Amino acid sequence: MDAGQPHSGSPGYDGVGGENRSLDERLDYLALSPQDQIRLRFLAPQFACFSAELVEAFYSHLFASPSAARFLRDPAVVDRLKLLQERHFLSLLEANWDDKYVERRRQVGHSHADVGVDPELFLGAYSRYVQESFRRYFAADGRVMSSDLEAMLSLLKVVFLDVGITLEAYFSQATGALRRALDMYWKANVELRQFAHLASHDLKTPLATVANFCDEALDEFGGQMPVEARQLIESARQRTFRMSKMIDELLSVATSFDLASQLAAVSSQEALEDAVERLTPLIREKRIRLVIPNPLPKVWGDAVRLRESFYNLLSNAVKFSPAESGVVTVTARLGDEVVEFTFADNGPGIPTDDRTAIFAPFRRSSRTREPAGSGLGLYFAKAMIEYQGGQITVESEVGRGSRFHVTLRQVPSSKMGDSPAGSD
Ligand code: HEM
Repeated sequence: MDAGQPHSGSPGYDGVGGENRSLDERLDYLALSPQDQIRLRFLAPQFACFSAELVEAFYSHLFASPSAARFLRDPAVVDRLKLLQERHFLSLLEANWDDKYVERRRQVGHSHADVGVDPELFLGAYSRYVQESFRRYFAADGRVMSSDLEAMLSLLKVVFLDVGITLEAYFSQATGALRRALDMYWKANVELRQFAHLASHDLKTPLATVANFCDEALDEFGGQMPVEARQLIESARQRTFRMSKMIDELLSVATSFDLASQLAAVSSQEALEDAVERLTPLIREKRIRLVIPNPLPKVWGDAVRLRESFYNLLSNAVKFSPAESGVVTVTARLGDEVVEFTFADNGPGIPTDDRTAIFAPFRRSSRTREPAGSGLGLYFAKAMIEYQGGQITVESEVGRGSRFHVTLRQVPSSKMGDSPAGSD
């Protein structure tokens, strides 16, 4: 581009997405004129004298900042960057404001978004660069501040042109990454549903076979068996049906996302009774004393999620209570609009440092002699309670036990059977 005819008629930048402000528009807005272009070009040879020194000073600043230094651990990257940045800074003074100029700035924004150098780091670095430049420029012999000020202001304006383009590119790149992550999320969801259907089929087929074996045993040999043996086979058959139903319900919970419309008035009494029934063999084996309230209120929730979260919390309390002397207490405290359930045990307790970790998947606490488990029970309980708009917290005293508090919205007795307000 000719210095005499600077940016008049420069091609408008015709980018995509958020990067489509025309270059002419940018130049006009920043009042970057042909005079600025001439002044910048005049500065170029003077800046070239100290540009390498400037980049070194710039890097001392970056290395001194922990948030910047973490990007600069690889010396090969640093060498390449120094070269690219020196060239980049000098190109500000060449002032060739064309498509290529814009494209280079966008490239910096894209690279920074890819590696995670955020706009604040970039801006801070730029401001440092400007300060170092001013200092060196005005330190030269015979320079008079006022006459050179315009030139410095030209530089400032061009710096902000640069910043604007680069930041815009940064955000466009960052939202692109978000869109790609969302696409991956939906794809993973579809795959999860397919996997869940296959897994449910594979789990239910052997259950149906067991139920058939039970039927055959009862049909063919039922008459010759003692009554107790017949009862045991009958209850094994019942359990397989129940388990098959549970697999269907869990599958529907795992693959349903439209939850708000599914919240309904559900019985916490039934959820707790179900959990107690499933855990009765373990409760008997460990001789745990179980104290539960009766009756319990209805809450806004999802029947399967409530049942499974109560099961996980009760199972956790039973597992951690000592055999023979264990006491597990469930209480329900009614507030104005919510009900707080508490699952208390007299197990070993949870050290303060572990109280967040116990809700993370596969993160077990450092509690000694921890019973075997999947490492997912409390994680699922928390996820399911939160899905129902509730909250779960834990209190504990090492050596004396733990109390898990679950808060859910209570259904006023007049509204039982309705949908929750505002959810339909
Ligand atoms: C005045 C501010 C800055 C300018 C002018 C600038 C310039 C550049 C340029 C020209 C590139 C190469 C772009 C490409 O062609 O892909 C780049 C990439 C990069 N920049 Fe910056 N940068 C600045 C600030 C920073 C800061 C503060 C950091 C962090 C300490 C940083 C770290 C990086 C990294 C890690 C890359 C990618 C290097 C690679 O290719 O592996 N930059 N930057």
